[in-house]
Amino acid sequence: MSRSGSVTVRAPAKINLELRVGAPRPDGFHELATVFQAVSLADDVTVTRTGGRLSDGIEITVEGAEGVDVAGVPQDETNLAVRAVRLLGDRTGMDDGVSVHIRKRIPVAGGMAGGSADAAATLLACDLLWDNGTDREALREIAAELGSDVPFPLLGGTAIGTGRGEQLTAAMCRGSYTWVVATSSTGLSTPAVFAEIDRLRDGRVLPEPRVSEDLMSALRAGNPEAVGALMANDLQPAACSLRPELLHTLEIGEECEAFGSLVSGSGPTAVFLVGDRDHALGVSVALQAAGVAAAVYTVAGPVHGARMVEGPSWRT
Ligand code: C5P
Repeated sequence: MSRSGSVTVRAPAKINLELRVGAPRPDGFHELATVFQAVSLADDVTVTRTGGRLSDGIEITVEGAEGVDVAGVPQDETNLAVRAVRLLGDRTGMDDGVSVHIRKRIPVAGGMAGGSADAAATLLACDLLWDNGTDREALREIAAELGSDVPFPLLGGTAIGTGRGEQLTAAMCRGSYTWVVATSSTGLSTPAVFAEIDRLRDGRVLPEPRVSEDLMSALRAGNPEAVGALMANDLQPAACSLRPELLHTLEIGEECEAFGSLVSGSGPTAVFLVGDRDHALGVSVALQAAGVAAAVYTVAGPVHGARMVEGPSWRT
C-alpha cells in the first residue's frame, strides 16, 4: 500500500518528425509509419485517493497552466484520463476511488497528443498510487487500447510508431533538438483531418507507409539541419486544406531559415526545427509579429517519457 494519498506524474507532448499515412483499414484506422519525438512541454496529472470506490464516480478537474485554454477539455467521464482510470481498474481488479486533476501546458486539440499524454500520465499515476506494479509492457497494451498516441508518452525519447501508431520501437537519436511551437486558437479534430486526407486522395492506391532511412541516419548522426530537411507529414495537406492560414504560418518558418517547418500530427499546431535558442528567438518574434499564432513556445527534445514528479516519499 502506498503511504501517500496522491501521486503526480508528468507526461510529455510529442512532435511527429515524419508521419506517413497509408490506406484506411477495415477497422477505420489508417496504417501509419511515424517518427515521434517527446518534447519539453508536459502536462502534470495528480491522482488522489478519495476513500470511496471507483464505482461511485470519478471527479476530474482541469487547470490551464501558462495561459493554456482548457475550455475544450471535457471535465466528465468522457475525458480520456477518466477512461484510463477505469480501464486500469478493470484490468487490475482495483476499485479504490480516486479523483484526477490535470495541469495542462500542452495545447488542446493541437496535434501534440496532449489528451494522450494525460491518459498515459494517469495510467502510471494510478498504478503507483494503487501500488499495482504493472509492468511497462502491460501498461503499454492498456495505453494502446485507449488511443493510438497513448503508448508513446509512456516511452518518450525518439521512437518509430507503426500499426495505427501504437506499436513502438525506440530509435537511436544523438544530440538535442530545439523547436519553436506555434499554436492556434482553435483545435482541429483528428478524425476530421483523416477524413480530409481520404477525400483529397480520392481512392488512390497507396504504398505501405514507411519512414525514411535518410531521416533515421540524420537522427543517428545528430544532424538537426539534415533532420529538418527530411521532415514530412502526409496529414499536412489535409490540415492546410481545413485551415489554409497554416500555409502562411509555415512560410514564416521558411523565411526565417528554420531547418524544417511542419504541421504537427493532425494539426493545427505548427513546429519549426531551429539551430539554437537565438534562431528560436528569431522565428518566435517573426511568428508573433505576423499575428499567426495563439501562443509560441520554444521547447527541446528528446525528453524522457512519463515519470513521477511527486508521490509517496519512500519511492523517491
Ligand atoms: O486512436 P485515436 O483515438 O487517437 O484516434 C482518433 C481518430 O483518429 C480515429 O477515430 C480515426 O478517425 C483517426 N485515426 C486514424 N488512423 C490512425 C490513428 C487515428 O484514422 N492510425
